[in-house]
Amino acid sequence: MGDTLRTAPSHDVPPPGHPDRATTIAHSGTTILSPLVPADQDGLVDIALAALAPARKAAPTVLDIGCGKGDLLVRFARRGVRGLGLDRNPWFIEDAKRLAAAAGVADRATLRTAEAAEEQLATGMDIAVCIGATGALGGPVLAPAALAKLLGPGGIGLIGEGFWRQPPPVDGAETFGIGPDEMTGLDATVERVAAGGLEPIAVVQASQAGWDAYEGGYAEALDRWLDDHPNDPERHRLRTRALMMRTSWADWRREAMGFCVVVARRPEAEWDLRRSVWDHRAPRCAARCCEDRSVDEHSAAELLPTLYRRVLDAATRLEWAGDRPAALRIRRHAIAVYSLGWDIKGAKALEGLEVQALALLAGRPPARSRMFLRLPN
Ligand SMILES: C[S@@+](CC[C@H](N)C(=O)[O-])C[C@H]1O[C@@H](n2cnc3c(N)ncnc32)[C@H](O)[C@@H]1O
Repeated sequence: MGDTLRTAPSHDVPPPGHPDRATTIAHSGTTILSPLVPADQDGLVDIALAALAPARKAAPTVLDIGCGKGDLLVRFARRGVRGLGLDRNPWFIEDAKRLAAAAGVADRATLRTAEAAEEQLATGMDIAVCIGATGALGGPVLAPAALAKLLGPGGIGLIGEGFWRQPPPVDGAETFGIGPDEMTGLDATVERVAAGGLEPIAVVQASQAGWDAYEGGYAEALDRWLDDHPNDPERHRLRTRALMMRTSWADWRREAMGFCVVVARRPEAEWDLRRSVWDHRAPRCAARCCEDRSVDEHSAAELLPTLYRRVLDAATRLEWAGDRPAALRIRRHAIAVYSLGWDIKGAKALEGLEVQALALLAGRPPARSRMFLRLPN
């Protein structure tokens, strides 16, 4: 485990002027387009397969959005997982196909050039991956919910995102092309995943050695290309990029930037609850009120203990994050709801409390949800 996947190096690169040219050249020496190393990639496969719901383990499927050169998809395929990898960069997809063939898994790993937004993405997946490509799913805040939609209940999502280990220098992020709301701290990055409706179960962080190798390899590949192609029409732009990557890494990015993959489960219970609470609601009540209510009350009562535990967990995290008054208020409400009765109203109230806690953890003002039950202060 932890081996580097190999194939003959590609010398084919986009033509001058193509927006993917610099990144394709810069990643010519690697199959992993992030600071993760082979052992991290294999670790992610291990964690995801171990965390799958038992019913999903027999013949799991994986969808990788922004799969790059398909390194992770090939590692899943080597473990028997059938998968589809999409990437808008056709040069990466060509390398990915060669990688899958070299690993003997081309029959299990389908690779396609595609712009994610233009694809009709499959749903009900066992595993869904988006590493370093959350922009393809609407950005780092929206991507977790978008990924959750691709998963079946009990499925596992892998979301890889940069985070700030410490605040970047004034203007540092901006000059590097990172928007003010894009990256946040590690805890808040994990909370974004939770707020998207997934339950985080593990976080794999890139090591400093992995980062140094990735950054060094990136700039070196650009320099090597320019040494081999002294008349490249974009030599000034490529050399400037290599220099900027090296200097910004040494000056501040090495201290400030982290990268993690959050492994998270799409809950089975929450999905059942949403179906039972919302799909069986009012429209059919007029005709079959009692019948529907009994279905709802039954599933709500089964799910209430799980919801209650989740609200308490969220309140504890809120307390750790320093918002003790909100944590106390949410905990008090949850106890009151839980002791009042185990019905749909209680389930909706607990769900509303969890939404509130997660919104506060994500730094958003808690919207007053329509499913929130009014309780005495
Ligand atoms: C940082 S790389 C990560 C690649 C791969 N996940 C890995 O970890 O090796 C991001 C990849 O996402 C792809 N990408 C970005 N936006 C995309 C989109 N809208 N649709 C499809 N692919 C996209 C890029 O072409 C690039 O290969």
